Amino acid sequence: MDINSIRSLYLDYFTSHGHAVIEHAPLVLEEDSTTLFTGSGMQPLLPYLLGAEHPSGSRLVDVQPCLRSQDIEEVGDNRHTTFFEMLGNWSLGAYFKPEQIRYAWEFLVDKVGLDPHRLYVTVYSGDESLGIHSDEESAEVWRELFTGAGVSADRVDLVTEARGNDEGSAGARICGYRDKNWWSRNGAPDTMPIGDPGGPDTEVFYYFPQVQHDPAFGAHPHPNSDGGQYLEIGNSVFMQFQRVESGLAELPRRNVDFGGGLERIAAAAIDSPDVYRVGTLWPIICRLEELSGRHYADETMAMRVIADHVRGAVFLIADGVRPSAKEHGYVLRRLLRRAIRFAHAIECFEGTLTAAAEVVIDVYSTAYPSVASSRTQILEALAKEERQFRRTLGKGLRELRRLGKESRPLNGGDLFTLYERYGFPVELAVEEAARMNIALVASWRTEFDVAKENQRLASKASTNLGI
Ligand code: ALA
Repeated sequence: MDINSIRSLYLDYFTSHGHAVIEHAPLVLEEDSTTLFTGSGMQPLLPYLLGAEHPSGSRLVDVQPCLRSQDIEEVGDNRHTTFFEMLGNWSLGAYFKPEQIRYAWEFLVDKVGLDPHRLYVTVYSGDESLGIHSDEESAEVWRELFTGAGVSADRVDLVTEARGNDEGSAGARICGYRDKNWWSRNGAPDTMPIGDPGGPDTEVFYYFPQVQHDPAFGAHPHPNSDGGQYLEIGNSVFMQFQRVESGLAELPRRNVDFGGGLERIAAAAIDSPDVYRVGTLWPIICRLEELSGRHYADETMAMRVIADHVRGAVFLIADGVRPSAKEHGYVLRRLLRRAIRFAHAIECFEGTLTAAAEVVIDVYSTAYPSVASSRTQILEALAKEERQFRRTLGKGLRELRRLGKESRPLNGGDLFTLYERYGFPVELAVEEAARMNIALVASWRTEFDVAKENQRLASKASTNLGI
């Protein structure tokens, strides 16, 4: 089943179970100052998870475009993308653990057709310091579903990722973890801001036996390892707590917040551990192969970065963001300049971003008409940014190489020169320096910030003087 069919099937499945389809939110949430971008489906629903009545009722479903800019440098492996679509269904007090787990199972196994022998799940192992016990109820529902399908359902409690890495799960179907199975926008209970909701969760992983476990991530494989064999495809959060001064308090309603990674579910459906093989990403890779005359197999990382970053940029521009030196615009600029840097490396010359973006727009035009209707603005913004950065990119790389030969570590002032004169977002310059084995002084960040602030003050002073 292809990615577009899975997207519509999800909405149809939950509609047939009494859910109202709600409009997804833009990538930039005006009323949420905690993050720059919408990074999960629940963010726009925060007031309702905290207790407000939603105008569409207590059973909701949508597909939410998300951008996790904190993952930019993870992009390049077989599973991370900055932009992704999150399938989301919510119960605002309407149903809880058994119903949600059965819905997730029925959708993944009976509708999408995933092999239940390849599914593994995790549950909350409890935290006595919070007075919250292990989630026996979820584990029992999973056990019934697996055994009903003739699949083993043994369980192991690993508690921490570190213990999982040391001991492995030995193929257990249901694994218990503590912090890994607690979800809030800010992670574990002690890092949640006062007022934020959260709760234990149960996650679903798809197992790829064709992948060799990477021992760099621990001696043994287990679902919450980054060793490559297990891919998380969905997460049901049982959002029943709110952080208060004294710890955790029960929310007025016991909610469900489900998030499924559409690209990852689609990858599982075609038995590909590489998410870039799914129907929304693969056409971009094919276009990059044409433009560069090179093969994905040889230029995997560069092509993944370009495909991911251009796709994210297309959605950001469709939502009104433009490249700039600040906040949202800076992240967009960073994505685009990083994509241009990688395009340069595989000899994809000027026009690569717009050529790749044309493919992205075509791929998403039916599911996201706003992307299609912003075609002109998207192409113009990309062409402008590419023109600007291509002008200085080669010179900036040469300057970096020259600095590298000075046999001293680079400081924040050097990085500021690369930023100011050659348009290198500082993170990109740092990445390049690492690639060229050039060391940095430990204080580079502070020095860079000071140089930037001095420049801002100087340009403000000259403006005030009318210069
Ligand atoms: N909000 C949950 C997540 O992002 C579903 O994983």
